[in-house]
Amino acid sequence: MKSVLIASRNSAEVRELKETIGQEYNVSVITSPNKVDDYLKKYGLVLLDHTFTEYYGEDFLMGVLRKSYLPVLMLTPPDDVKGAIETMRVGTCNYIVKVGDYHKVLNLSIRQAIEKFDEQDQMKQTIITLKKRVNELEERVGASGEEDVQASSPGTSTSILDQIVFIFKRGEINLPSLPQITIKFKEMVNKGVSLQEIAFLLQQDAAISCKLISVSNSVYYGGLTENKTLGQAVARLGLTTTRQYVDAISNRALYVTKNKKFLEFIEKLWEHSLSCAYASQIVSEVLKLELPDDAFTLGLMHDIGKLVLFQAVGELQRRKKLGENVDTAELYNTVNIHHNKFGAALLKRWKFSSGYVQIAAYHDNLEEADPISKELLVVHFANLLVKSMGYDQTQQAEIDVEDAESTRLLRLNSTMIAQVKDQVKGRMEEMRGIFA
Ligand SMILES: [Fe+2]
Ligand SMILES: [Fe+2]
Repeated sequence: MKSVLIASRNSAEVRELKETIGQEYNVSVITSPNKVDDYLKKYGLVLLDHTFTEYYGEDFLMGVLRKSYLPVLMLTPPDDVKGAIETMRVGTCNYIVKVGDYHKVLNLSIRQAIEKFDEQDQMKQTIITLKKRVNELEERVGASGEEDVQASSPGTSTSILDQIVFIFKRGEINLPSLPQITIKFKEMVNKGVSLQEIAFLLQQDAAISCKLISVSNSVYYGGLTENKTLGQAVARLGLTTTRQYVDAISNRALYVTKNKKFLEFIEKLWEHSLSCAYASQIVSEVLKLELPDDAFTLGLMHDIGKLVLFQAVGELQRRKKLGENVDTAELYNTVNIHHNKFGAALLKRWKFSSGYVQIAAYHDNLEEADPISKELLVVHFANLLVKSMGYDQTQQAEIDVEDAESTRLLRLNSTMIAQVKDQVKGRMEEMRGIFA
């Protein structure tokens, strides 16, 4: 049973309130702000009567909103509805005007507020978990060699891949929980959540908020006025673009390593992934394709196996488990050979749809895929195109994009290719500062 905390100075009314909602909820009452912190940890909703804020001031409300994420439902007199609307601006979830049989709608309003909050809470938890995991990942990648990995000593015949698998099994490196964000966002959109609600949710994450505002003010999306709040930014970008950028911003936070040798690799991999995301989206727009998954995020995630493997290799090398003189080219080769299968397994484990898994598995070897989906063709092409543009980890030999199998199957002509190239370049230049 959920618990409701009533904050009110009107004892006669409190008795009635307790009677009305006591059957559905555990109810406690406070008549002063003392010890409210202890209560906040145990409750599902705060029912705040206007008598309370009138007596103790707005500070109480602000304190509750700051210290907890609990939904606060205001009870307001008929002559001060405006005041209640004001409180919604600072974060209360709704208000009930105390007229007629307002008790009758109380249980329903509380239920709705808690349900809505729970949905938002899931998303918020995802963001919090993501941030925690990113920190953990950073710490672990950067940890000194004190934690001993029971791998073979340098120079033995154990393959690099065996050692990588070994440290994953031991939980030495946690897999980031990033994909949850994509999934939760999708779930919320499917449920018909409004832009305001999305903005409210994202507000919890300062880094995401700031960057979304910058993106919305960039030349590409910018309007006549400068957006200053997240609400304005989300309204300008719309739901799809907002989600793409939430994916991109969260994803960006994962491209970290404390192994200096790998810094450049990881940075270039980020550039490669972001440009591939843009290219995938632009191609699907140019060809007016309706894909089952979002082209941008498909492109963004296609080399995720490479990222996680590079981080693992970086970790092993820092701990001197790979020997001093392991050739960087050999490491790169190992990651390259295994990243497709590894990425596909990761995405499967993260419960991504089969489209993502297929793309991770076959974006470098189309001929092995069966069947070859439209989205796979798009990312296959986008991957080659951005490599040919120099967004790659290594200097590639000349890539003939026009001759590629995906180009042929998608029926992309040279004019279209030039158009996509142009747009990708523009977007990459524009977003460079934002994602730095
Ligand atoms: Fe790849
Ligand atoms: Fe790639």
